[in-house]
Amino acid sequence: MFEATGITAVREAEYYDLFTEWREDTDFFVTVAKQYGAPVLEVGCGTGRVTKHIAAAGIGIDGFDSSPERLRIAREALPAESGVKLFCQDMRAFRLPGSYQLVMLPYRVLQELATTAEKIQCLSCVRDHLEEGGRVLIDNYNPSIPKLARDPATSARVMEKTGPSGEIIRRTDRVVSRDYLSQSQQLEVVYDVRHPDGRTEHYVIPYETSYLFRFELEHLLARCGFAIREIWGGFDFEPFGQGASDELIVLAERTARALQPKPRSCSRSI
Ligand SMILES: C[S@@+](CC[C@H](N)C(=O)[O-])C[C@H]1O[C@@H](n2cnc3c(N)ncnc32)[C@H](O)[C@@H]1O
Repeated sequence: MFEATGITAVREAEYYDLFTEWREDTDFFVTVAKQYGAPVLEVGCGTGRVTKHIAAAGIGIDGFDSSPERLRIAREALPAESGVKLFCQDMRAFRLPGSYQLVMLPYRVLQELATTAEKIQCLSCVRDHLEEGGRVLIDNYNPSIPKLARDPATSARVMEKTGPSGEIIRRTDRVVSRDYLSQSQQLEVVYDVRHPDGRTEHYVIPYETSYLFRFELEHLLARCGFAIREIWGGFDFEPFGQGASDELIVLAERTARALQPKPRSCSRSI
């Protein structure tokens, strides 16, 4: 999870969409929403980057996120007239008034949770908010063993963009360390901003994500009361395993009975 507060969190939210343009995933989510929605719930909707495209396609959608700064951007993009309800909640224990046909977690949202217990808590809440036969769509990173074995020092990726006020924003993403036992990566996101008047800003955001391999995700979903329906390797609906892919996208259907009771605690493993 991101550990940004104050002005750092505000700037990060303001610049999020600019630095996420490369994903080119929104058509995919709109297509799935058209086929399996509505209503749709987006878990970890952030700035509304995906939400606004689904709403614009005329599909009923609600969203929630734990970041008030990102939700502020989403509310600007999705004013009350859009009919989209946005909530500030934690995906480990959310409770919303509605029930949904499709719950989606675009762009690696489930990986924000460190432990298996937390992921089970989230998927149990997802299940509670789905109508019978409803579906969950999870878009995760497909962990590559060769990439995970690389020296973190070689991982830095730098992107530069021009912001809305003409400021030059340089974003550096790097892996600080990896923990193979807990299947987590400790990352750092750095923003260096240079304004037209010469003013500069520097923000460092620590970030931790976890990763799951394909069969782990399948087993986790089965344990939480879902049956796998599709596994894709990319946003063109290519089947998973066809060529090298960074994406692991699973569509699963809510079954009549959850196999695993909800965990009581959030210990490191379960
Ligand atoms: C990689 S971003 C994806 C945002 C959005 N789905 C998209 O595709 O642009 C992950 C999102 O998950 C949110 N998040 C992280 N931990 C969360 C939690 N415990 N509960 C709710 N949202 C959370 C973050 O605030 C962030 O907006």
